[in-house]
Amino acid sequence: MSVEMVVERTLVMVKPDGVRRGLVGEIISRFEKKGFRIVGLKMLRMSRELAEKFYSVHRGKPFFNSLIDFITSGPVVAMVIEGDSAISVARLMIGSTDGREALPGTIRGDYALSKSENVVHASDSPESAAYEIGLLFSEDELA
Ligand code: PPS
Repeated sequence: MSVEMVVERTLVMVKPDGVRRGLVGEIISRFEKKGFRIVGLKMLRMSRELAEKFYSVHRGKPFFNSLIDFITSGPVVAMVIEGDSAISVARLMIGSTDGREALPGTIRGDYALSKSENVVHASDSPESAAYEIGLLFSEDELA
């Protein structure tokens, strides 16, 4: 029986704590070794305006302001990865949001102990992947 392959693109972002801690290479490497192709990659410092758009789904939640403060506190490294089932597989690879609950072997399970400073972000659905990629990359920045 053959299992159908679905090639997708998703947005993965090393958060400011991951950049500060020197985890950029390790995180990129995990996605490359898994078999994903990197089709876009950049370092940027998010403005508050961009951050509020990026996390607009969380507007109004109690943690929204601290989330925006944190994500704008230093540079992030954003990448678009492509491959079979990229959206769901990347979410499995980063682990649960709260680093204390993320399983060992996942990125957060290995490198985070917090729900806010949790090293990495990955889009959680096809809709959010399209939205987040469109916000951070132009067409001509994607290979
Ligand atoms: S929710 O309401 O269940 O959808 O929220 P959750 O999935 O737990 O978290 C959504 C993102 O917000 C970050 N987060 C926080 N940032 C700063 N401070 C606090 N207190 C906080 N709580 C949650 C969390 O890391 C998620 O970030 P992303 O980048 O989406 O993984």
